[in-house]
Amino acid sequence: MNELIIAPSVLSLDYSQMTEQIQTLNQSKAKWLHFDVMDGHFVPNLTFGPDLLKGFKKSAKQFLDVHLMVEDPVKYSPIFIEAGADCITFHTEALQNDVTKIASLLKQNHDQGVKTGFVVKPNTPIEQFENLLNQVDIILIMSVEPGFGGQSFMENMLEKVKWLVSKREELGLSYRIEIDGGINEITSKKAIKAGCDTIVAGSYVFKGNILNNIESLLK
Ligand code: DX5
Ligand code: ZN
Repeated sequence: MNELIIAPSVLSLDYSQMTEQIQTLNQSKAKWLHFDVMDGHFVPNLTFGPDLLKGFKKSAKQFLDVHLMVEDPVKYSPIFIEAGADCITFHTEALQNDVTKIASLLKQNHDQGVKTGFVVKPNTPIEQFENLLNQVDIILIMSVEPGFGGQSFMENMLEKVKWLVSKREELGLSYRIEIDGGINEITSKKAIKAGCDTIVAGSYVFKGNILNNIESLLK
């Protein structure tokens, strides 16, 4: 079984207190940090470029988990790998859910020495990607529509998680199952029970006491 990892989403970090909050994250039990890269096209919101990731690479001790919400993940994966990403996840929808194109980008990322996997939006069925399961380190299931923090958890997405758990066992694989969107101390328990081992949380972690909030997700 994979170790349970909490990945705070720095989308919700308070950038007026960036140094202090990174120091707090460094003292926390969060082993990963999650970066939501949005290009204003694949999703309406616009967030981080590679230079910000380089700053985190220098100041944060965590494994850097980069979630690309961009129209052209083939172009941007190497740019974020160069900037310090340890793991790249990209949306299947950005590659027209084309299994051949997805497999090619997984290989491109692996060839550059990082962990990688794909992400599906809530309306994208997961079963069509069964043949790719032996090529990924991680699969990210969106439990909100990508684009913004602070939305409500879509509990029916846990059906995809359960399918991934059973396929992983059937096929003898070990990929991580990550969930992103609407996670708090209640929904995280449901996600973990369904089989998630990698928990992204943005607004919940950064509202109030960061250390306590992270701990509450591990309980
Ligand atoms: C949404 C992002 C999430 C976001 C989650 O598009 O992919 O990572 O930061 O935020 P919360 O935890 O507030 O739903
Ligand atoms: Zn994300």
